[in-house]
Amino acid sequence: MKVIRLEETESTNTYAKSRIEDLEDRCIIHALRQTNGRGRLNRSWVDLGENNLFFSIVLKPSNTFNSTYSNITQYASVVLCRVLGKYGITPKVKWPNDVMVDGKRKICGILSETVIEGGVLKGIVLGIGTNLNATQDSVDNIPDRVVTALNLEIGKPVNMDKFLDEFLSEFFNNYDQFLALGFEYIMDDYLKRNCFLEKDLNVQVLNSVKSGFAKGINKNGELILQDKENKELILNIGDIL
Ligand code: BTN
Repeated sequence: MKVIRLEETESTNTYAKSRIEDLEDRCIIHALRQTNGRGRLNRSWVDLGENNLFFSIVLKPSNTFNSTYSNITQYASVVLCRVLGKYGITPKVKWPNDVMVDGKRKICGILSETVIEGGVLKGIVLGIGTNLNATQDSVDNIPDRVVTALNLEIGKPVNMDKFLDEFLSEFFNNYDQFLALGFEYIMDDYLKRNCFLEKDLNVQVLNSVKSGFAKGINKNGELILQDKENKELILNIGDIL
């Protein structure tokens, strides 16, 4: 697997998207610093300094889009939980793909971007940020979010290159099976690691907020909410507030 290492870039996702034609399937862009890291819903992803992890994986599974590709972020969230578990913590997933410690403190962020031109899928850029080494002050200063870093949770520094290697081997060891079977391949593990089911939730969906009881996840990885009138809402995008 090819790894392109950069000292600094605006955003590894932006870098990969702008060169998508030239980058091979399963190639990794890893940057030591990001000056304009991007998150979901037009948010930014703050660079917490040296030895935090910013990388993107270029995936070219086929020339046409398949609904399974929408579940890649959920697959990555399960892989992140497994790897973080090796460090002695038990993070949970907040639908669809936030990796949280104690259900409250965000430790990883995942941003998947699809490049389609003229109906042809050029590639998927799966960007992952993981806070591995940060100070308490720097995480406390991130606006609008409660954030943590692995070193703060385990009380010692974390080797970034080792963590990246562990992630990539877990990710690619199971990737072909995930592509073949889709969300159902990770469903049990995803459910075991959830921190949002059987709760009353407010979910931001584009410009509106949907409220209801989180009843379950269907075989496509969609969230099933039951509203006050006992009507079921099936959500395939959204952000739990
Ligand atoms: C989120 O939680 O909103 C997603 C954050 C994703 C951040 C990563 S860091 C590496 C890659 N490059 C980016 O600009 N964003 C992703």
